[in-house]
Amino acid sequence: MPDHGYDDIKHGLRQTPASISPKYFYDQRGSALFEAITRLPEYYPTRTENALMHKHADAMAQAVGQGRTLIELGAGNCQKARALCRLIRPAGFVGVDISADYLRDAVQGLRRDFPGLDARALGADITQPVQLPADVPRSGRLVFYPGSSIGNFDPPHALQLLAQMRELAGDDGGLLIGIDLPKDIAVLEAAYDDAAGVTAEFNRNALTHVNRLIGSDFDVQQWQHRAFFNAGDSRIEMHLEASTPVHVRWVGGERHFGRGERIHTENSYKYAVPVFTDMLARAGFSRAQAWTDERGWFAMVHAQP
Ligand code: AVI
Repeated sequence: MPDHGYDDIKHGLRQTPASISPKYFYDQRGSALFEAITRLPEYYPTRTENALMHKHADAMAQAVGQGRTLIELGAGNCQKARALCRLIRPAGFVGVDISADYLRDAVQGLRRDFPGLDARALGADITQPVQLPADVPRSGRLVFYPGSSIGNFDPPHALQLLAQMRELAGDDGGLLIGIDLPKDIAVLEAAYDDAAGVTAEFNRNALTHVNRLIGSDFDVQQWQHRAFFNAGDSRIEMHLEASTPVHVRWVGGERHFGRGERIHTENSYKYAVPVFTDMLARAGFSRAQAWTDERGWFAMVHAQP
């Protein structure tokens, strides 16, 4: 039976309320489901961010400057970096992502498309301080963190990550980051509970992944997807709710869930621009410029020390 520890999962399952970290969404199937989510009619963040970058391309390019060393956190398939490279013609690129193999292929593609670009792949967990290779220039760095993923961390943790990005950018560097803004609750809730049920599958897939990791016997059919906006904390919450009494066993433990009991799987914070720029200031970025779409749903923020 597979068991490589994963004490964080077991610990989360023993708590009341129970929780599973959103990082366990992203096995191979989960990553494919997330890609599918980004194309759903209800999931506006990805397409709004792309349109925003397209519409304000010149202004953004001017603000961030040409010939920089572009450092993308959570670079994945480097699709967003590719669009930015066309705009700002960086001298160097470092893509950082936990799944190094996938990233390496994507970076090779960038090298092909931008001859002369010193493009590298770095397999690293971006929630920890990132150590760049020693020969990456210290000056002229642009840290790029698109996709509003900063919203998946609790505010104290998000602040800590922004402070790490400030360190990485250096005194003359910048940060270009995407954030999802508060909006009509119906729009938000539909984005996380789509009609086709893709987000529900994405949420339930965490249980299949956890079964493989800790040898648990979750039956995904017994768990319902719940997503709602918590206005007090300005966040979408995703949970899995037991539709019947459930007894779950795993290597070294077990837990009973009553009908209606939930496992908290994700938060997705929605920051108003002034709230976020205040956080940036606390992280050491005192100057910030934001671009938003006409509906005011999403923002790209360029921050400098
Ligand atoms: C990756 N992250 C920005 C997504 C979000 O919108 O919070 C994850 C997600 N969860 C459900 N749908 C998308």
